[in-house]
Amino acid sequence: MKNSIVIRDQINNFNKKIEVSGDKSISIRWVLFSSIANGVSKAKNLLNSEDVHAALKAIKVLGIKYKLKKNICEIYGKGIKGYKYKKNLTINAENSGTLGRLLLGLLINTTEPIKLIGDKSLSKRDFRRISDPLSKFGAKFKLNNNKHLPLTIFGNPSLKGVNYEEKKGSAQCKSSVIFGAMRAKGHTFVKAKKSRNHTELLCKYLGLPITIQQKNKHDEIRIGEVKNLKPLNYNIPGDISSAAFFIALTVLTNDSQLTIKKVNINPSRIGIITILKKMGIKITFKNLRFYRGERIADLKVKSPKIIKSINCPTKLNSSAIDEFLIIFIIAAKANGISYFRNLSELNQKESPRLSWGKYILNEMGIKTVATKNSIKIYGNPDLKIDKKIVIKNYLKDHRVFMTSVIAALSFGGKWIIHDKDSIKTSFPNFLNILDQIKNLNNEKKKKYT
Ligand code: S3P
Repeated sequence: MKNSIVIRDQINNFNKKIEVSGDKSISIRWVLFSSIANGVSKAKNLLNSEDVHAALKAIKVLGIKYKLKKNICEIYGKGIKGYKYKKNLTINAENSGTLGRLLLGLLINTTEPIKLIGDKSLSKRDFRRISDPLSKFGAKFKLNNNKHLPLTIFGNPSLKGVNYEEKKGSAQCKSSVIFGAMRAKGHTFVKAKKSRNHTELLCKYLGLPITIQQKNKHDEIRIGEVKNLKPLNYNIPGDISSAAFFIALTVLTNDSQLTIKKVNINPSRIGIITILKKMGIKITFKNLRFYRGERIADLKVKSPKIIKSINCPTKLNSSAIDEFLIIFIIAAKANGISYFRNLSELNQKESPRLSWGKYILNEMGIKTVATKNSIKIYGNPDLKIDKKIVIKNYLKDHRVFMTSVIAALSFGGKWIIHDKDSIKTSFPNFLNILDQIKNLNNEKKKKYT
């Protein structure tokens, strides 16, 4: 099978230094901010993946030019009012919820209806969570089944600031409204449950009229109309959500160590680190530095003698939201029962991830007790798999693919994992980096790529 990978062997122990590709959330935001800036913005280490390419194609449809060479990109912004709204425009967000949802915020002033489409996975996801708050500014939406893509957005020339309470902890919803607010007269006030804050940090760095008050469980954000944006030059740090798979591989492989250089360790993204530390794993940050409001460090992880089970505090859910699948696989080897709660948002991702997590664990022979929004995982420190496991029909969710590969290399068995191409959306280099880790020992010659 051409587009699948077969894994039969556990990986041997390793001690290695790697770098992962650029952060996906920041890469997409860089494209969007640069597309409305005045002049040329340049990014280094832009994530060169399908989600980011979809963002670049989207701004091109809106009349904004760019040049991309490997992971260096230039965008020729024409200012906040620089989009050209032609008749019959269709924009394809492909697999990217972040692109589809954030971009809609910038489109609320369109003078022509714009159709937004996506792939099979994105077309199953909820867009009411975006159209509802953006409608308050004065834009109108027509959605498939009242909720889904394809949708059509009808803009409004006289948009007014809104009050919005974001209760799910969704950075996509929060960011979409922040982008909308930049186009609206007066002020917009957002009370948002804590979630990743790259959009706010970029607004601050660009000197936009934004104030943020951090409360215990939520942030209060006030943002005014934006008249002008300076170009945004950015050297994009590594993605903790990509690093997570190699952190997990190290944790699950006896006597191993890994350094991952130049990773974004924004506090709103490192739930996985806090969770793993609670599970007894040693992770340290070296060369900590600040860049454009973000925190960057080299991350060092060592495999532990024993993994402790965890009753995961729900306040960590948002900052670990993209990492739960791989955290579940680590919990499979823990000494005891781990418990993860209030995770209904996990089933709103590229695939229903809570269900997929349970499926993979059960295939591995791990007992679980799951509800609609929680899972108990009965860990087995001696787990060794000795059967065939096939992973397919998972809506090509990149994180299901990568999680399965790590589980296969960590616990053995014969795994056939379909839809290898899924990694192209977020982490095209994933298998090459695995090859680097493996080659160090030179023990198993066969490449994964
Ligand atoms: C993202 C926000 C999160 C996350 C997604 C990227 C972003 O989604 O799961 O991968 O870049 O804003 P939600 O906002 O739906 O939680």
